[in-house]
Amino acid sequence: MSDYHIRLATVGDFDGVMDIGDVYMGADYLRHRYHSFMDDRNVRSYVYIIGKQIVGFCSVHLIDDGLTFLVRAGRVKEGFRGKGVYSRLLKHVHAEHKDVDSIKYDVITTRNYNFEAWKKSLENTYMYTVSSRKTILSYQLETEDIERPGPTKTSYLEEVTSSTMTSLLEDEKIRDTLFPEGKMIINWVPLRLFTSNMKYIMTPDTFALQSISDNFNVSLLTVGTSTECKLGLLYNIDVFANDVTGLCHHIIRHFEHLKALTQKQIVLQIVTSSDFCKTADDIMKNLRISSFHKNLRTEIISLEKGFK
Ligand SMILES: CC(C)(COP(=O)(O)OP(=O)(O)OC[C@H]1O[C@@H](n2cnc3c(N)ncnc32)[C@H](O)[C@@H]1OP(=O)(O)O)[C@@H](O)C(=O)NCCC(=O)NCCS
Repeated sequence: MSDYHIRLATVGDFDGVMDIGDVYMGADYLRHRYHSFMDDRNVRSYVYIIGKQIVGFCSVHLIDDGLTFLVRAGRVKEGFRGKGVYSRLLKHVHAEHKDVDSIKYDVITTRNYNFEAWKKSLENTYMYTVSSRKTILSYQLETEDIERPGPTKTSYLEEVTSSTMTSLLEDEKIRDTLFPEGKMIINWVPLRLFTSNMKYIMTPDTFALQSISDNFNVSLLTVGTSTECKLGLLYNIDVFANDVTGLCHHIIRHFEHLKALTQKQIVLQIVTSSDFCKTADDIMKNLRISSFHKNLRTEIISLEKGFK
């Protein structure tokens, strides 16, 4: 492992990075997002090379107006794992950013099984603390599964545009209702409630809905983000709520959107606080949508520490 080097990834590294393999069982998003990472001036991606082969990759995102250093899409090729490759890659990318004055926080999001595997190192050596846990319910559906009439549309359900989302983030009461942790995890990216994060909240692949309650409060917001993947279309619905009464209507509207979007197989992930995951799962059972991995309910864990 001594003959390695690490450098910034380029557009031309696409094939080499893809050769690392699909690390999420066919639901990997990197093929779809690689070029947008390359085009984003807040993102720097790195490759770890042994000989001429790319064996490791990760992408550093400076979000929250440059306050937060987030590493995404980290991966090491099978056969090279368990030998310190990722650890060296992360040390390198941290060192490369140590003089960036704006950075105050260091954040990662990971699945619970990765977290459990590296818990001691992440908590005791690197001193991360858990800032948020969300449940991920995963389902696999065919396009014909969603060819059913939806219920009568409720007038309280509205599509959210970037300007509506800006108003939601600027309203203190709504922020407290929908985002009590002071952050929103959108498609795996943990964001502070800054309107400057809008391009990561409302991307060209986003379809968002809100429910307005009788007293004109927003009680439920769902943000759907679609990503092409090997299995078909990965559709991630992030749920923010203090009341999920209207969730069934939201899911059906997301299904209608999906039907217009693709003919492919769909991997649907509903990401919600543990309080609402039973309701969400019951809705999916009533809609007769089957779970993707039987008995596998995973979690997104967001970890944070000060940046050094
Ligand atoms: C997770 C993975 C990247 C680890 O690569 P690896 O080269 O085998 O890892 P190492 O031998 O360097 O050991 C893991 C180190 O990375 C750290 N680590 C593990 N998961 C991490 C994560 N999600 N974020 C930051 N650090 C992580 C561990 O704390 C450990 O650090 P230490 O050795 O300095 O104590 C690799 O198993 C992989 O590609 N898995 C599939 C993709 C995946 O799950 N990526 C996680 C991104 S969230």
